[in-house]
Amino acid sequence: MRDEDYSPSLLAWYDTHARDLPWRVGPHDTAVPNPYFIWLSEVMLQQTTVAAVRDYFVRFTTLWPTVEALAGAEDAEVMAAWAGLGYYARARNLLKCARVVAADHGGQFPDTEAALLTLPGIGPYTAAAIAAIAFDRPATVMDGNVERVMARLFAVETPLPAAKPALKSCAGALTPEIRPGDHAQAVMDLGATICTPRNPACGICPLRDPCQARAQGIAAELPAKTPKRPKPIRHGIAYLARRADGTWLLETRPEKGLLGGMLGWPTTEWVEEAPAPSPPIAADWHDPGLEVRHTFTHFHLRLSLRLAHLPAGTPGDFRPLRPAALPTVMRKALDLAKPAFDRD
Ligand code: ADE
Repeated sequence: MRDEDYSPSLLAWYDTHARDLPWRVGPHDTAVPNPYFIWLSEVMLQQTTVAAVRDYFVRFTTLWPTVEALAGAEDAEVMAAWAGLGYYARARNLLKCARVVAADHGGQFPDTEAALLTLPGIGPYTAAAIAAIAFDRPATVMDGNVERVMARLFAVETPLPAAKPALKSCAGALTPEIRPGDHAQAVMDLGATICTPRNPACGICPLRDPCQARAQGIAAELPAKTPKRPKPIRHGIAYLARRADGTWLLETRPEKGLLGGMLGWPTTEWVEEAPAPSPPIAADWHDPGLEVRHTFTHFHLRLSLRLAHLPAGTPGDFRPLRPAALPTVMRKALDLAKPAFDRD
């Protein structure tokens, strides 16, 4: 499939344009990458952007500078520090993985893709990314950025997701024996900064000459995507109760399921029809006519709010509130309800 080696052009580009990221050992830096930092950053970066991850990464590594420190953390503290990043199963698996690495691997991450794959929460993407970036192994790292770069470079017109195997074999053929870690990061940086989904900056791309989609004038149209089915809308009611002593009625959501292990307001089931009310305690609940909208991977959620002011001493799981510990949908409910509480 490949009659030329494009990796040297990419690496030369990376040598001057590599993004400066808090977990990254840059191309001119002689330090050895820290596998804990690489693992943590790659888990955080799944489904998320570098801009969203930076501050979380710095906070995590300040609180827990080593995998052993993270392994020894309280579950609730880690979930609270993750709040706002989304995809909370990642945080639960993160902690499981840290504990396995600390307990069974002497605090050292394994250095091969196959061994990394046996750890909790480490799938093909993360295993390849850690093997390449932390241990400089010629693993082929596939994410959305890499797929887009490959679809364009080789003008693969098959829509995603059907094109995934073909795109992986393109990326595999390009993976070099020399500096595979930098190569993997170079392709991802190229996808994030130049070969962007809309308006790719082909004029300044190090791969502009060999790029087949650019030659055909179809770069911006690739990768093609099979249209997704529209997401259903689910409805629920969230119950926000504040006691006169300033504490709030909160619950830790069950481990299994959406937002598992996270703190939140008691809610009804989230259903496609009108939800049956299920207030968590008997109180004078009032309907302020407010609705939170939030989109999850598989559905849009509309949460109607009910508010209650309760006297100090009302029994229940009332706790002081740390808004930053709430996942985004629960934080949105608080932000929307706050003026009504402050007014009443
Ligand atoms: N996106 C996800 N992981 C990345 C990495 N290691 N470098 C650049 N962008 C990324």
